[in-house]
Amino acid sequence: MKGWATVAAALLGMTGQAVAGPCTPGDIVVKFATVVSATDNPKGIAARIFADRVNHEMAGKLCVIVYPDSTLYDDDSVLQAMLQGDVQLAAPSLSKFEAFTKVFRLFDLPFLFPDLQAVDAFETSPAGARMKSSMAGRGLAGLEFWHSGMKQFSANRPLLHPGDAKGLKFRIQPSEVIAASIRALEAHPLSIAFSDVPDALATGVVDGQENTWSNIYAQKLYAVQDGITETNHGVLEYLVVTSADFLRSLPPDIRSQFLDILHQVTVERNAAVTAVEARSRAAIIAAGGRIRTLTPAERAEWVAAMQPVWGQFRSDVGPDNLAAAEAAARQTGTVQTGADAPGG
Ligand code: LMR
Repeated sequence: MKGWATVAAALLGMTGQAVAGPCTPGDIVVKFATVVSATDNPKGIAARIFADRVNHEMAGKLCVIVYPDSTLYDDDSVLQAMLQGDVQLAAPSLSKFEAFTKVFRLFDLPFLFPDLQAVDAFETSPAGARMKSSMAGRGLAGLEFWHSGMKQFSANRPLLHPGDAKGLKFRIQPSEVIAASIRALEAHPLSIAFSDVPDALATGVVDGQENTWSNIYAQKLYAVQDGITETNHGVLEYLVVTSADFLRSLPPDIRSQFLDILHQVTVERNAAVTAVEARSRAAIIAAGGRIRTLTPAERAEWVAAMQPVWGQFRSDVGPDNLAAAEAAARQTGTVQTGADAPGG
């Protein structure tokens, strides 16, 4: 079996160059670029399990090489590289597709999804499933949604009320919705690549950030912040994506086995993400990070401050998609305070 150990050894060869460790001559090679660690992150774990399964079950036909930690491409360059055929698979967060489609702005609307069950319910609805093919005209094929987790705020001073964020600079992903949400707090958004976030916080380029427990833990962001506030104000969600040309080029039996394995790993790993995130949260506490929880009244203040940005993006995300997402949120029985009264 060509397992993860082989892949890792191949990736971290003497020269630091990736070599085709799990592949044999004649294999169709799938390079899978991610920006996260291969161990502490839901995407890293899922990518590793997916590669192991493909490399075992499709040996002699197709092989997957995972490049973690932005070692091949970062999220700014990976989609263009994919269109050029230089990389075959990636799973950027939905905030990183702005140049290709605006529908994924839905996922960045603050306080839309109360939890990952609601995200699941939306993604498996007809509206959610349709979104995966929203970039077909641009040469990209969305294959599966992968969860990362709910996002939390952190800063170099305590954040209990929205006013505490006023005037601070926050690192964000390149998303217009997130930028608007930060401005709604009278704070300043700054788009910075994921790999640069620890330095940007440590050197004061930015004062705060928002991300999942696993990303905060893996990047040790808790160590350069006053604390993390458990806001659960948004969701970090990925799209496993490939180029339409590459997908078309696969022989039908190989394509179908590849997509079947991907789907099985998706279902299995998405169901495990809440537990992975809880482990990272506990690990932050064990490492001395400070976590602040909000009272219902404090949380309602954040909802009231940020949720009005929905009105600016209603037409980009599509009113029907928004209605389907709100229905999915209601289905889980934990609708956000004020979720029914967004601005616009
Ligand atoms: C970020 O840039 O913060 C995330 O999209 C990174 C990731 O892939 O989890």
